[in-house]
Amino acid sequence: MKAIVCVDQNWGIGKNNGLLFHIPSDLEYFKQITLGKTIVMGGNTLLSLPKSKPLPGRTNIVLSDIFTRNDCTVCPDITSLFRTLRNIPSQEIFIVGGAMFYKTMIDFCDYALITKVKKVCEDATVFFPNLDKMTNWELVEEGDLLEENGLYFQYTKYKNNDTKVFHIGDN
Ligand SMILES: NC(=O)c1ccc[n+]([C@@H]2O[C@H](COP(=O)([O-])OP(=O)(O)OC[C@H]3O[C@@H](n4cnc5c(N)ncnc54)[C@H](OP(=O)(O)O)[C@@H]3O)[C@@H](O)[C@H]2O)c1
Repeated sequence: MKAIVCVDQNWGIGKNNGLLFHIPSDLEYFKQITLGKTIVMGGNTLLSLPKSKPLPGRTNIVLSDIFTRNDCTVCPDITSLFRTLRNIPSQEIFIVGGAMFYKTMIDFCDYALITKVKKVCEDATVFFPNLDKMTNWELVEEGDLLEENGLYFQYTKYKNNDTKVFHIGDN
């Protein structure tokens, strides 16, 4: 299972339930990596998507106990989410946000695909865990410095050397 996220230099990821940056090639990168796979998100992130709709071409799973929907799978609690995820091959699963949900799931991810934007957004209100401060996470890949719309960014990959497994109780 992997997390995928776009962060600023302070690991900021959003404000006003929206993204910090508009980088079309990063959105395309996200699409190419997640198409045909399972994406898993918190309730606010589903609501932040265009028209608050699940992303097409992917199995969308949402953790929320406040709404039910017929256009995606909604898990009302973490146990039901883990039960659902354990039936899906781990390499098919992408954790796609947001801040609260990344924090919930990061220890269970074996890799994190981080697009790092070389900018500080002072008005960021939500953040990804700073993997550089977590001893079990190691930076294993760092792409070239790219530029679009005046923003400089880099695709990177981190590896978790102490990935946790789900404990559900009944196993
Ligand atoms: N930069 C990026 O790559 C990126 C990617 C995705 C999102 N974002 C940004 O992240 C922000 C949204 O993040 P957020 O933290 O506000 O919301 P979120 O993590 O998307 O959703 C939070 C909701 O998910 C459910 N949830 C998450 N963890 C839970 C847990 N441990 N137990 C039970 N329920 C849990 C709860 O839903 P209920 O309250 O409905 O029960 C909670 O209110 C937006 O600004 C969005 O644009 C950025």
